[in-house]
Amino acid sequence: MATRTLWHHARLATLVGGADDGWGLIDDGALLTEGERLVWAGPLRERPPSACEAASVDLGGLLVTPGLIDCHTHLVYGGQRAAEAEMRLNGASYEAIARAGGGIRSTVAATRAASETELFTLAARRAQALMDEGVTTLEIKSGYGLSMEAEARCLRVARQIGSDRQVDVRTTFLGAHALPPEFDGRPDDYIAAVCEWLPALHAQGLVDAVDAFCENIGFTPAQTRRVFEAAKVLGLPVKLHAEQLSDQGGAALAASFGALSCDHLEHLSAEGIAAMKAAGTVAVLLPGAFYMLRETRLPPIAALREAGVPMAVSTDHNPGTAPGLSLLLAAHMACTFFRLTPLEAVRGITVHAARALGLRDRGQLAAGQRADFVAWDLDHPNELAYWFGHNPCRRVVAGGQERA
Ligand code: NIG
Ligand code: FE
Repeated sequence: MATRTLWHHARLATLVGGADDGWGLIDDGALLTEGERLVWAGPLRERPPSACEAASVDLGGLLVTPGLIDCHTHLVYGGQRAAEAEMRLNGASYEAIARAGGGIRSTVAATRAASETELFTLAARRAQALMDEGVTTLEIKSGYGLSMEAEARCLRVARQIGSDRQVDVRTTFLGAHALPPEFDGRPDDYIAAVCEWLPALHAQGLVDAVDAFCENIGFTPAQTRRVFEAAKVLGLPVKLHAEQLSDQGGAALAASFGALSCDHLEHLSAEGIAAMKAAGTVAVLLPGAFYMLRETRLPPIAALREAGVPMAVSTDHNPGTAPGLSLLLAAHMACTFFRLTPLEAVRGITVHAARALGLRDRGQLAAGQRADFVAWDLDHPNELAYWFGHNPCRRVVAGGQERA
């Protein structure tokens, strides 16, 4: 039988219930785990009889929340783009740099030149920084290889990061991220290649979802649709980098494929919001990229809130537009820049981030959920979106195992 453990002497923020129900705070709370699963969460005095034979761990009165979930990262890449950031500070735009062959393409060159071991070392270090702040589930996209072989390499690295059970990794194939140089002037041929690679990558067990960059500097809605059709044939869920720099109608297109999430969304239209609501698509907000690009146009937060579209928040970690490695800072920025409430921001990095990955078994502290939780040196969970540049994470339990 799996090990049973009673984790007690904690203040729980279960996040159970709708957004209106608040934090789900339980003073003198406890959690009962069995192997990888939570089998009970509640006030210690109400623990079930089976808790008697369980091993016991004192959490020292710390605040305990569900494990954090970073649902949108581009963690696997070679090189970095500090010089490009400097060019932007000297007046060049992200679009102009991309059009001149810099941007994503320069990272593609560095990624192709790196060995699988080098890519793993770099990505594992980045993953560790996120994990140190309480991340227990991490989405990692490909998209800097842009050849069958290089994309496979990046996805294998992502899988390898998840293989030690300290963090659960979900992989996303983002072949349609940018046009690689060998396909210059032939975007439709490149999309055909991407659609050909997908079944092979999927057959190797490397793909959990499929993403694309639908944008005037990325791919058109028609090209995005072809990628989604290929995903649909394989039964793979889709998500989309949508309406980041302009309104391409990408969100509505993605929603018509039942997308798990649409991400960025600064230029999202009312039609896009309605389509996302109807499809149950999560809006993933990426304030780090908004900040780094010094954007001024905000995603339509009030309209998303009013429509009842669930909002997640993520780092979007990538070398071009969001080189940050703090999900707590992303939550803080979601409040400061986008005016999310602290409760919305914290749900955005837990339960709604889980939804953005199609996962129902995490993001809350409740029976049946994965035993992923974090003990913080904080009084109240609203502080998760308050402090910045400071890590209050004290203990992390992932899949029922406490990290060393
Ligand atoms: O999510 N928007 C497209 N992709 C990334 C940026 C990638 C890059 O500049 O390297 C993003 O912001
Ligand atoms: Fe992204």
